[in-house]
Formats: sequence, C-alpha cells, structure tokens
Amino acid sequence: MKSADAVQRAADVIRSGGLVAFPTETVYGLGADATNVAAVARIFAAKQRPSSHPLIVHLASADQVASWACQVPAAVQRLADRFWPGPLTIILQRHPSVPDVVTGGQATVGVRVPDHPLALALLGAAGCGVAAPSANRFGRISPTCAEHVVAELGATVDFLLDGGTCAVGLESTILDLATGRPRLLRPGAVSAEAIADVLGEMPAGRTDKSPRVPGDMAAHYSPDTPLQLVEGLHIEALAGTLLQAGRSVAVLARRPVIGELPPCPWLAMPDDPRGYGHDLYARLRELDALGCDRLLIQAPPADSAWAAVRDRLRRAAGDG
Ligand code: TXA
Ligand code: MG
Repeated sequence: MKSADAVQRAADVIRSGGLVAFPTETVYGLGADATNVAAVARIFAAKQRPSSHPLIVHLASADQVASWACQVPAAVQRLADRFWPGPLTIILQRHPSVPDVVTGGQATVGVRVPDHPLALALLGAAGCGVAAPSANRFGRISPTCAEHVVAELGATVDFLLDGGTCAVGLESTILDLATGRPRLLRPGAVSAEAIADVLGEMPAGRTDKSPRVPGDMAAHYSPDTPLQLVEGLHIEALAGTLLQAGRSVAVLARRPVIGELPPCPWLAMPDDPRGYGHDLYARLRELDALGCDRLLIQAPPADSAWAAVRDRLRRAAGDG
C-alpha cells in the first residue's frame, strides 16, 4: 500500500473508533480518537494498562493546545516554537471537555506534536487529537519498529502504519507546567538544559506530589531477563564468574571486549547517547529473546547527555 493510502486507511480507522499503531520519532504509539471514550478504553484493554495511568494527546499543531488545555502559560508557545514537532510532552491543566479516560481522572493533560511525517499526516487526516501510549504491553519495552508492535500487540491493533525505525528510539521528555514550578517528569531527547534555555530557569525534578507517571514504577521498560547494571571495567570478570557458576549471560557494553572474550553474546553499543538511545530497545529485545539467566549492561556515564538512557536502564534494572 502507498503511504498516502495507508495514512487514509489509518485515519478512517481512528475516526470510526478503532486502534492504530503509528510511528513517531520517539517510539511507536497505540492511538485512538482522544474524544471517543470507548475507543480510548480499548487502548487500556489492549495494553493491559491500569486505567488510572494518563495518556498523551498527540496533536497536528500547537494551535490545537487550547482545545485540550486551560490556563496555558505563555512559555508553551515558546517551547512549541523551539521543540515542536518534536520529542517533548507538556503537562497542562486540562480543558473541561477532555474525557476522564484520557487523563486517568487527573486535573491535567499531556500534549505533544510528534516529529514524524506519517504521524503528522495521520493527525491531519484524522482531524482529532489522538490519545496514544507507547504500543507495548504495560510495563514492557517500547517498540521502535513495526515488527516490535506486532510482537507486543499483534491482532489487538486494527491497523499498523509502518514508518520504519524510529529516529530517536526513547520516549519523549515530559515537562510538567501545570503545577507552578516547571518540573521534568521524564528525561528524553529534549534535555533539561535546552528547556532551561527557553524557560530562563532549570526545570525542577519530580516530587512525591508529581502526577503519576507509570514509567516511574520500578518494573517499567523491562525485559523478562533480569538485568544488572555494571559500573567500571568488571563486566568480563563478572560474566566469567557467572558462566563458571553455570549461569547463562549476555552483555550489552559501550566497548569491545578487553582481553579474552567470555563465551557469551556480547553486543557493543554506540558510545554516544543519541546512537545508544536509538539502538537500545531493539538490542534489549534481541538479548531478551536469548532467554539467558542475566543481562549485564555497562552502566552509562553520569553526565546529563546520558540522562534519558540512564533513566531507562535504571528502570529496566528495577531500581528506578
Ligand atoms: O514518546 C512518547 O512520549 C511516546 C510516543 C508514542 O508519543 N508515548 C509514550 O506514552 O511514551 P506512554 O503512555 O507510554 O508514556 C507517557 C507518559 C506516561 O508515563 C504517563 O503517565 C505520562 O506520560 N502522562 C500522560 N499524561 C500525564 C499527565 N496528565 N500527568 C502526568 N503524566 C502524564
Ligand atoms: Mg510506555
């Protein structure tokens, strides 16, 4: 099918209350008409996601924010000018017309304009806001290509719009502008420093009172295989010890093996945060499919350029 035809089909499915998996620059989303309560409820069923967890509303342009949010701070336009379309979700006070099923009953709503030609074409053709979480089963790794969506959700999706591999590969940055001081709820490709450059102040971190973000739960973004982050240069030794004890191990590192290769799968990742983020979920799926007893992952650097990668790895290891 030509992509223009596929977009039309996908838009028809959305308008008639169906579920469409679609590509964005971050990860694939599982979308439904955000004004259709029954359609949005189907997203939660397909993902097996608790209904209290709010969804992001995807918009074709920043002009539509006023239909979804109230008391929109002036900073939103400046952020939109700089980062939209792009991997930034902004949490705002919800408009009274936003269905509870989208916001998980909270007083706020998350909005973003995704930077992907098929996503933008779909949003334009559907003519509505599209509520979409990542297109994976609850708690699991987000899909970064169409094959991952099929593996996660299969027949529960009415239409899958295939846009190849996602350029960013990690979920959007989430910035809360609904509760006074700007707060970064989830790090992503739009960095805290870049946001500070627009806002004139550094966003604060999360507090206990911050709205719910399921990505915050310990066992989120998780492969099935237990995952251990390893600091320093000890991966080879640790892998050797585990192998000797009869355990099967796979390694994800940012470097080649030093010395003798332990007899286990060893994937060398890009040593820059963008390249690493782009590949991470696909590599985790690959290693998870081996069914080893443990994944050893070289801990990422502590600097801010690696914040999003570090966040996802810590959560995948269950110590988020
Ligand atoms: O990059 C992304 O953000 C992808 C693509 C598809 O856009 N979407 C995504 O959706 O990652 P999801 O549902 O997997 O994660 C969205 C996060 C959730 O942790 C959710 O709790 C949070 O956004 N969120 C949505 N609305 C919120 C709100 N009103 N207040 C606080 N957090 C909110
Ligand atoms: Mg998700």
